[in-house]
Formats: sequence, structure tokens, C-alpha cells
Amino acid sequence: MEVIIYPDKEQAAAAAADYVAGQVKRNPYIVLGLATGETPLGLYKNLIEKNRKGEISFAKASSFNLDEYCGISADNENSYAYYMRKNFFEHIDIKLENTHIPDGSSENPIIACEQYERAIKGAGGVELQILGIGADGHIGFNEPTSSLSSRTRMKTLTEKTIGDNARFFGGDASAVPWHVLTMGIGTIMESEKIVMLAFGESKADAVAGMIEGPITAMLPASVLQTHQTVKVFLDEAAASKLKLAGYYKWVLSRKPIAEW
Ligand code: GLP
Repeated sequence: MEVIIYPDKEQAAAAAADYVAGQVKRNPYIVLGLATGETPLGLYKNLIEKNRKGEISFAKASSFNLDEYCGISADNENSYAYYMRKNFFEHIDIKLENTHIPDGSSENPIIACEQYERAIKGAGGVELQILGIGADGHIGFNEPTSSLSSRTRMKTLTEKTIGDNARFFGGDASAVPWHVLTMGIGTIMESEKIVMLAFGESKADAVAGMIEGPITAMLPASVLQTHQTVKVFLDEAAASKLKLAGYYKWVLSRKPIAEW
């Protein structure tokens, strides 16, 4: 894991966007794995700006989102489909038909999940996966004790995640669906490269566990320690519980090859 710590989330998001933009330039046909939540908003804003200026194009790219709530339609403003359109897709030149989000309103979620896995494989697999992390260490919606080899499937959210995500539902936890469709941890681990973003004090414990703790299904993100190429972009608050923060900064300041 490459741990990259910036003083604030704005600088971290800008650096992550430079890295992602470099990957898009290198392969205009890139298959992106995309995340939702508050954390990637700054990254998306920066990428939108680069697209607007003509620095990068998503015209040939395609995307697969990590997860979606069950039982709410793509037009519902709390759906991740809606989030992606409003916060990213409507502002860039990606073709909507090349974007994919698990079908949370499918009448047959088992088949929908199988089809999602096939679609990812059919596209040649995800080249660059963007991830955030839940305060309990979840990635996608893979809650603690999810199989580290799991595939896209339906999951039941923990009360903690329902409480955390209530802020997107006007603070009303009873409005947050209990069930979701999510790429599995095995699915996520097959992506070639991963960019993980985490900002704020509330993520500090999960981040410390992910980077410096034991690999355990109790903290799903810790499995990223076994992935070949993960870049973790943090602000100081999210990095505040890392024992080796000084070392990561030392390495970054002596980076032999500039990637962004
Ligand atoms: C949700 C999403 C995750 C996201 C996490 C953190 O549970 N399914 O993909 O990483 O929340 O969200 P936030 O960035 O809003 O803290």
C-alpha cells in the first residue's frame, strides 16, 4: 500500500484526481470502478474540471459502481444511480450506456448480481477502482465478517452503517434501506489498481486498522494489504491514528518517480 497524506482533504482529492486523470490519459478505454458517499465528491469535482478543460476525456471509458440500495428506483434522489448522474456523469463526456450500477430495484436480485459480475468480466475487468471506507472498515457495502472472497450479492446493512448513512436521507435512519447490492470483496480485489480515499477523524480508526492492523474479515478494508497496487489518499485527520505516519511522509517526500 502506498499511503499518501495531505494536510487537508482538498489537496488529497486534487492529488487523487491527478493520478486518476493520468490513468485515463494512458488508457482512454479504461474501465473504472466508482464509489459513492461524501468522500469521492472532491475527486469527482476535480475530474469534471479536467474534462471541461479538455485535459481528459471519458468518451471511450466505461464504469461499474460498487453498490446500490435495494428497493429504491434509479430516479429516487437517494439512489446511488441518481448520485452518480448528479455528481459526475451529467458533467462529463462519458456515455451513459457505458456506465453500470447494480440494479437495486430488480425483482430477482440474485440474477441481477450474477449479470453484474458477467458484465464486469465482459468489459475485461475493472482497471482502476475508486474506494471509500466506512467507519467500521467496510468497502462497497461489505460489512464486517463479509467473506474476503465474496462476489456481487445482496447484503444486509449493520445498524452502524444505517445510522452513518441516515445523513443522506434527511437524518431519518428509518428511511435507509436495510438491503443493498454490492460488489464482493473478491470482485473488488480483482481490479488492477485501487485508489482509496478517506477523510476526517471519524475514519481514523478504520484507516489505522486497514493499513497497520491484521488482515481480518472484521475490518474488510484490511484485505487491501494483499492487493498489488493500492494508493491511499488521506487527510491529516484520517491519518491521525497511524503509527508510521512519519515514515509514509518520508517516503512520499523522496518519491523517485512522480505519478501526479
Ligand atoms: C457507504 C458506501 C461506501 C462508502 C462509505 C463511506 O456505505 N457504500 O462505498 O465508502 O459509505 O461513505 P462516506 O464517504 O460518505 O463517509
